[in-house]
Amino acid sequence: MMGSAFGSLLLFGATGDLSQRMLLPSLYGLHADKLVPDDLTIFGTARSPMSDEEFRQFAAEALKKHVSADRLNDEAVASFLPRLRYVPVDASQPDHFDELAKAVKPVAKDRGLAIFLSTAPSLFASTIDGLKQAGLTGDDVRLALEKPLGTDLASSREVNDAALSAFPEERTFRIDHYLGKETVQNLLVLRFGNLMFEPLWNNAGIDYVQITIGETVGLEGRAGYYDGSGALRDMVQNHMLQLLALVAMEAPARFDATAIRNEKVKVLSALRPITTSARDDTVTGQYAAGVAGGAGAPGYIEELGKTSDTETFVAIRAHVDNWRWAGVPFYLRTGKRLPVRTSEIVIQFKSVPHSIFKDRGGRLHRNRLVIKLQPEESVSMHVMAKVPGLDREGIDLREVPLDLSLTTAFAGSRKRIAYERLLLDLLEGDPTLFVRRDEVEAQWAWIDGIRKGWAMNQVTPKPYPAGTWGPAAAIALTERDGVHWND
Ligand code: BG6
Repeated sequence: MMGSAFGSLLLFGATGDLSQRMLLPSLYGLHADKLVPDDLTIFGTARSPMSDEEFRQFAAEALKKHVSADRLNDEAVASFLPRLRYVPVDASQPDHFDELAKAVKPVAKDRGLAIFLSTAPSLFASTIDGLKQAGLTGDDVRLALEKPLGTDLASSREVNDAALSAFPEERTFRIDHYLGKETVQNLLVLRFGNLMFEPLWNNAGIDYVQITIGETVGLEGRAGYYDGSGALRDMVQNHMLQLLALVAMEAPARFDATAIRNEKVKVLSALRPITTSARDDTVTGQYAAGVAGGAGAPGYIEELGKTSDTETFVAIRAHVDNWRWAGVPFYLRTGKRLPVRTSEIVIQFKSVPHSIFKDRGGRLHRNRLVIKLQPEESVSMHVMAKVPGLDREGIDLREVPLDLSLTTAFAGSRKRIAYERLLLDLLEGDPTLFVRRDEVEAQWAWIDGIRKGWAMNQVTPKPYPAGTWGPAAAIALTERDGVHWND
């Protein structure tokens, strides 16, 4: 447990999509479970003028829409809403920050202030300037930054420098919401809380790793952001590379922010650059008309209303060039309008060195560990077993899963929104599940290399019908190595 939690929270972008779908429901969840201080005040800011009362009504609507019925309790909502206050701020107007300071300072006093920036990146610098001018950046103020933190290494450095001009690294909390997911944290427990995996967790024991994040949704009305981003920057730069780092990192000496992040950044900096090999090591796609959720779905271009070369699918063959992982490919794949919503990590172990069953007709398959992160959480280890029988025609072996459904094992515990954990850690000052500057920059450096390779090689996305696993080339990417995607 951390020290006492901060007493006030200031949300920039309080009327935005993230706030409605995730932040307000998360804060409500923490409130309903009595996990935040009784006197926590939540200030919302956005451009539109609104009174405290109007913002509370706005929040009540968001809760009704985005909190599941079994968690929505009239009493808890009624006691949550008075925590909310609202101050309109146009980030281009410095005097608005004076008004903000007038409202926030008397409440924050010496109880600490956490600021959550979830606004367009173009407003970051002016918002931080405004906060500085208004004296809202002292030692007892923390800053959380929501993506996108830039669109490449250079622009992400600008964002980080702007933040650093007012907030030292230890008070800057960069969000990757995947790290707030229970299942993602569980990766650390699986690897470092059990003896049996670690001795094999290297290039002597593992043949390859696959990480897939499939989504069935399309643009979801986010054209303005998504079309300028694409799957590589939207999903690989952050979430997938964080998953890869957790899978590939060395054992940290302690469960703390410095030890864990030191190990992750070593992996991220050891990623082999993919620039000249971009044609061989990556495949990009863009969904065309097809099927989603059993019904016809339009293609990306139709949804967007204009032509575009933005990739909605990417598959990558990556390598971590260090002693542990030399020669082990990490196949990454993510996309919109895929057949299922799934996030999973597949660890394919190598063959046993010698099969004693071969002469009796028994065929061995290699062990495979499948870690499903969502929608349901499960871990299954595929092991060999003998099919019951007298084996007159030879020994019959079959692969069977040793299944652990964490959803069932922990039935009754509530599935929390990732942001509940992150907001609580922000208020309590625990940076373990936030991304350090050197990690983000190592991520961007690698992504920039790929984009440079695409530009040099004129790589453009190949169409794939909505509801399929991307273009055929994505299958060829692994098949060339004799590997099948775990569909
Ligand atoms: C976000 C991306 O970071 O993650 C979205 O911007 C994506 O495009 C989302 O849909 C996926 O998150 P989750 O938690 O639904 O897997």
